Formats: sequence, C-alpha cells, structure tokens
Amino acid sequence: MMPAPLLPLNPDELLTTTRTVRKRLDLERPVERGVIEECITVALQAPSSRNAQSWHFVVVTDADKRLALAELVRSTESRAPATYDAPDDVRAQRSAAMLSSSSYLRQHLHEVPVMIIPCCEGRVEGLSAKDQASWWGSILPASWSVMLALRARGLGSAWTTRHLYREQQAAELLGIPFDAVTQAGMLPVAYTKGTDFKPAARLPADQVTHWNGW
Ligand SMILES: Cc1cc2nc3c(=O)[nH]c(=O)nc-3n(C[C@H](O)[C@H](O)[C@H](O)COP(=O)(O)O)c2cc1C
Repeated sequence: MMPAPLLPLNPDELLTTTRTVRKRLDLERPVERGVIEECITVALQAPSSRNAQSWHFVVVTDADKRLALAELVRSTESRAPATYDAPDDVRAQRSAAMLSSSSYLRQHLHEVPVMIIPCCEGRVEGLSAKDQASWWGSILPASWSVMLALRARGLGSAWTTRHLYREQQAAELLGIPFDAVTQAGMLPVAYTKGTDFKPAARLPADQVTHWNGW
C-alpha cells in the first residue's frame, strides 16, 4: 500500500489549521481504505490510561448504514448555538457561519463517504470524575490524532456527538456491544475541496491561562 502524500505543513501549521470541515468536504471523491487505515495507525500512538489501548474505531462506508446513521442524527432536535454577551466576542462572530455550516452537514451527512466512530471499552455512567477523566482521556487524544492525520493527507472531518442521542440505536445498527463499549463521537470524513485552511480566531491565551493558580 502506497502511503498517502503528506501536505507540506509544519507541526504548528497542522495543529492550527485542522478545522471542523463541513461545507468543504468533497462528497464526490472516493476515499481509499488505505488512507483511513494509515490515519488510524498514526492515531494509535496516542496516550491511554495505564496503556490499556482499549480503543476501537468503527469505520462506516456502507451507503445504507451511512444513511441510517444520518437519519438518526436528523431525528434529533437541532440545538441553538451558545450565546455570548459581547458582540465582539470571537465566538459570537463565528455563530452564524457555524450554524449554517452545521445545518449543511446535517442535511448532507449521508453523502459523506466515510464515517469513523471512535469507541472505547467500558461505560462511563456512574463513574467518578477521576475515572471519567481517565476514560475520556483514553479515547479523545487518539480521536483528535485521527483528525490531524486526515488533515495532513488532504482529508477533513468534523468532531460530532449528535448521534449519541441515539447511541443505542447506532450500536444496534453497527453491532457495537452497547453494554461493554461507549461511542465517543462520530467523524464524517472526506477529501477536502482545496487544502488551504487558516487558524481561526480564538480567545486570547492570556485570558484562559492561569499561572500558579486560577
Ligand atoms: C465535543 C464536540 C462536539 C461537537 N459536535 C458537533 C456536532 O454535533 N456537529 C457539528 O457540526 N460540529 C460539532 N462540533 C464542532 C464544533 O462546532 C467546532 O469544533 C467549533 O465550532 C470550532 O470550529 P473549528 O474546529 O473549525 O475551529 C463539535 C465539537 C466538539 C469538540
């Protein structure tokens, strides 16, 4: 298997330009199985609590299953975006674009060629904060690594959680053992239309950094 060519991005460029891609997903271009395998292999270098590596990645390419997952998402209510008091807040300024983009993805979800569902063994219900932190911390870094590895190869994705309102139905659809395994999200994946993505406006670091105490 030939490795997918990597974009010429330095580490900071990769980290600051891996955006949530929705409208720029190329819904026509097929995605090779090899490139997904490669990204998951890269992601398996992520940390996990006690090196348990209890992660699993369910990759859905079957058109009927993608449609069924999209219908599960569309059967949930859309939530209003968070509101921010100051109109010049960078988050407020992105709200309208995010709403339009999320609505586009929701509408076209079944057309996205690949969906990846990161899962981890165990259930989080009833766990202490410490155990939840260990559990989520053992799947989210690997999931983000998948997104970074995809971006490095010219593909895009979006972290989504909406299908988890119907987690059990998704588990039944995909044969995931619901009592023993938790789904952490769902990444719709496609090549991107163009590969130029920019850093987004964020709250300044000094507003959210606390030296030697809160
Ligand atoms: C926990 C989590 C859940 C999210 N759920 C959704 C979702 O269900 N649908 C969606 O379109 N985007 C979802 N997003 C993507 C966010 O909207 C996105 O990360 C945010 O707007 C910042 O955009 P950027 O990643 O391009 O900077 C989610 C992100 C996170 C971290």
